[in-house]
Amino acid sequence: MDYSLAWLSYRRLPFYEEKEYFQKLYVQGEDGITSSAVYEICRGAEEILGIRTEIVRLPVSVGNEKSEVKEGIYLFLDSNGPSGGGYRIFEEKGVIWITAAEPEGLLYGSFELIRQVQRERTLKGLELLRIPENPLRMLNHWDNLDGSIERGYSGKSFFFRDNEVLVGKRTEDYARLAASVGINGVVINNVNVTERATKLITCEYAISLKRMGEVFSKYGIRLYLSLNFAAPIELGGLATADPEAMEVREWWQAQMKETFRNIPSLGGFLVKADSEGRPGPFTYDRTQAQGANMLAEAVKPYGGIIIWRCFVYNCTQDWRDQKTDRARSAYDYFMPLDGDFHENVILQIKNGPMDFQVREPVSPLFGALSKTNQILEVQIAQEYTGQQKHVCYLIPQFKEILGFHTRCREEGDTVADIISGRCFSRRNCGMAAVANTGSDSNWTGHDLAAANWYGFGRLAFEPSLSAEDIAREWCECTFGTNAQVVHAVCKILMMSWPAYEKYTSPLGIGWMVNPNNHYGPSVDGYEYDRWGTYHRADHLGIGVERGKAGTGFAQTYLEPNASIYEEAETCPEELLLFFHYIPYTYMLKSGKTLIQHIYDSHFEGVEDVEKIIGLWEGLRELVPGEIFDRVKLRMEHQLESSLEWRDQINSYFYRKSFIADEKGRTIY
Ligand code: GCU
Repeated sequence: MDYSLAWLSYRRLPFYEEKEYFQKLYVQGEDGITSSAVYEICRGAEEILGIRTEIVRLPVSVGNEKSEVKEGIYLFLDSNGPSGGGYRIFEEKGVIWITAAEPEGLLYGSFELIRQVQRERTLKGLELLRIPENPLRMLNHWDNLDGSIERGYSGKSFFFRDNEVLVGKRTEDYARLAASVGINGVVINNVNVTERATKLITCEYAISLKRMGEVFSKYGIRLYLSLNFAAPIELGGLATADPEAMEVREWWQAQMKETFRNIPSLGGFLVKADSEGRPGPFTYDRTQAQGANMLAEAVKPYGGIIIWRCFVYNCTQDWRDQKTDRARSAYDYFMPLDGDFHENVILQIKNGPMDFQVREPVSPLFGALSKTNQILEVQIAQEYTGQQKHVCYLIPQFKEILGFHTRCREEGDTVADIISGRCFSRRNCGMAAVANTGSDSNWTGHDLAAANWYGFGRLAFEPSLSAEDIAREWCECTFGTNAQVVHAVCKILMMSWPAYEKYTSPLGIGWMVNPNNHYGPSVDGYEYDRWGTYHRADHLGIGVERGKAGTGFAQTYLEPNASIYEEAETCPEELLLFFHYIPYTYMLKSGKTLIQHIYDSHFEGVEDVEKIIGLWEGLRELVPGEIFDRVKLRMEHQLESSLEWRDQINSYFYRKSFIADEKGRTIY
């Protein structure tokens, strides 16, 4: 095997004292998912404890008769048990029960049990009740049919190569890893659907996609595809893709009939329309709702859903135009349509109004939309946050987003409340992450980036977990329970996002990256580009005025957030330059001027990277040599890159402002 199993690469624990439970596994039901649960327990027991578990098949009635119960583990489907993928695990008199209303719960409970063993926890007296908060917990892969991955930083696609769909051992191991953290939906192809990828919905790919769907189903994962809105033209030879044209509607209906017949386990489609050159309903003067609903009707007979992305904006904004604001666009396009979407349409909204920057406010659509199904889209592929060359653990960022009070109600108004469906009583909702995996032997390029994959799944399942708890879990499963390792790795992870923020673009301004590849500093790269992502720095100050005097974006938030963002004095400082143009001499709450803050934070960011390297150095003998070296190499590169960021940003602002660093450090 030319790849590892990441956090499922089990280490032998010869001294684990509670092996006995694993001698026998009692199970009812023989469906695919329950069989996977059985397989996972047996595999964990064998690889970690060296035990060959005996599987005892039970008739459905057993389990209620406690007298019949023998020592061991029971996988027990109980219609009164936790549902929606939830499970209960408890230990009583030498018996471990995993109970759930559906097989998915048994599978998640089995992975949890193995995790407890990996983490060397005692199973005696164990009592856990877990119910996933978000109905949909999805990964979006931006994989292309030629095997490349858009914004992929860990090798090639393991779903596609040379226009073929790959289904094999790796597909299965991927499904195991994803399911182990509770992922239940996967979109395998890029949202930018062009050329051959348009054909994924046709017979040409039916056999392999059907097989892939089956592999996923055994692990409780539904297969989804991204589709091309212009398919009626490109595949069907029609003259139009107008969602209101009868021939277009009929074409989609016929095509969906065929597609769902070919791939019965298909969950539905993800659609990027009218965005960055992709076709969509705007071409025909139709709304986003008309486009989405037309597709929703075509997939409805098969229980399919349409996940429609809100990443719709004008990417050719002129620099002289101070009113048009990319940040506003999703809100402006979608807010008036609240309530117009069919029940099987879900709007997928990026966490911020721009594009996965290291710091952005939460999209104002959260809280504003009250009659529409919603998915929160985050990105664990670190497109703008170091591209899996820099360590940047993003779970703390996601925690902040989920905890944001939208003020749509007095209580229960956070993003987590909305996307779980609690706030507006909705079923079709959840969380999606742009995936960070590829064919690299460790799946994620940077070994520590696996914490983002693991963490996303765990957080989507259980948003109340803390970022530290998730880091610790991942670390113990991956590296074992050695206290020194766990302490150092968790510290590195928890320092990493703030460090990245410090040495890159300051106070929410974002975008000071090289255009196109989005890596490394280029302060004015986007300033002189056409994408409408300006920072507006001049010799007096920097920032985009988004209060009433500017683009008015602050006013898209519900009160009191609108007023808080409106004024520089009340705006959270980490977002100050996102919302306001601020003079370099402006005094921050820390007592530092803006310019001094910029200098200081850039020096600090580099120092943090040096600390991170020091912490990792201390693990030389304690983590596998191959991983140690791989990570070390990336960290050395990260240091170089952070120095480049520091020097370019500081020099830029020194030369713009003519204000010297109070501490007299070298700024070129
Ligand atoms: C970003 C990214 C693109 C991607 C787009 C999207 O702009 O750079 O590669 O296609 O987001 O989310 O659709």
